[in-house]
Amino acid sequence: MIVTTAELFKVAYGKYAVGAYNVNNMEQILGLFKGCVDSKAPFIIQLSKGSRKYADKRMLEALIRTAEVIYPDAIFAVHLDHGDEETCYDCIDSGFYSSVMIDASHEDFATNVAITKRVVERAHAKGLSVEAELGKLGGVEEDIQVDEGHACLTQPEEAVDFVKQSGCDSLAAAIGTSHGAYKFKGHQSLHFNVIKSIQEKIPGTPIVMHGSSSVPKEEVARINAAGGTLDPSACGVDENEYLPAAKLGVTKINIDTDGRLVWTRVHREFFRDKPSDFDFRPPGTTFIAEYAKFIAHKNEKLGSAGQLDAVRAAVTKK
Ligand code: G3H
Ligand code: 13P
Ligand code: ZN
Repeated sequence: MIVTTAELFKVAYGKYAVGAYNVNNMEQILGLFKGCVDSKAPFIIQLSKGSRKYADKRMLEALIRTAEVIYPDAIFAVHLDHGDEETCYDCIDSGFYSSVMIDASHEDFATNVAITKRVVERAHAKGLSVEAELGKLGGVEEDIQVDEGHACLTQPEEAVDFVKQSGCDSLAAAIGTSHGAYKFKGHQSLHFNVIKSIQEKIPGTPIVMHGSSSVPKEEVARINAAGGTLDPSACGVDENEYLPAAKLGVTKINIDTDGRLVWTRVHREFFRDKPSDFDFRPPGTTFIAEYAKFIAHKNEKLGSAGQLDAVRAAVTKK
């Protein structure tokens, strides 16, 4: 069942986080639905500009609508990840999306507010909610490169003005994470003081954490043992920090890179061990099962596992 993102946030806020998973193909979509139904978790399926171009937005919509038929117990929202203004309008007008993210965080404050406000007006008129970003994450955001040195945390005081002036429904805040597999060297904690201060200043507004992959050491080691050359010192977000962050209002946690690592590990190991094989279905089947296991594990860490019945009761009671 496709629901609004606002409905999911209302049930989860302050208690647990909803996993927002990027998908690009059929295998990911099948594994995601299986993992969420197995772990009884609501979820957000998110499509980036890159995924809509790679698989064609119509193909992704058809795959997701078919997965909904295959997994009738699933409860989820459909979200545009890191949209520009034009892509937001395309998604708003499509009738398929629950919410969009307008990412104008690379603009100055006033321009970010102005762009976000325009998207909010168009989205709200059609019943969609809007995520907007303030602050700069390190790493790569679509085609925008932000140097580690220039990544700056969201200022809680600015967050209040930004949400008030733009009318956005949720706030993607820079709280110490970055996109991709190379987040930090060594262990680095989330900036809980910043999260707490943002929540105190905008209570009730869901905070979104981007760049939340944990880049497991054992996954990197297995990829490298099968021919990969990933930097073994790379380090991601500690999964045990998801739930404490959720209690402080981080209600949507975005995970993409970790899923790509699962794909890379499964396929590298498969072709290392079976170098003469060329049927792509056996590794595809393994990937779907491994991705489902990975999703169920993430949902446990987010606290969303086991929440499906409560969500169903809340969304069907209206
Ligand atoms: O934050 C970006 C997401 O990981 C999506 O990545 O733009 O390569 O699809 P993508
Ligand atoms: P990761 O690269 O840490 O998976 O972050 C994904 C993300 O923020 C998608 O918007
Ligand atoms: Zn992101």
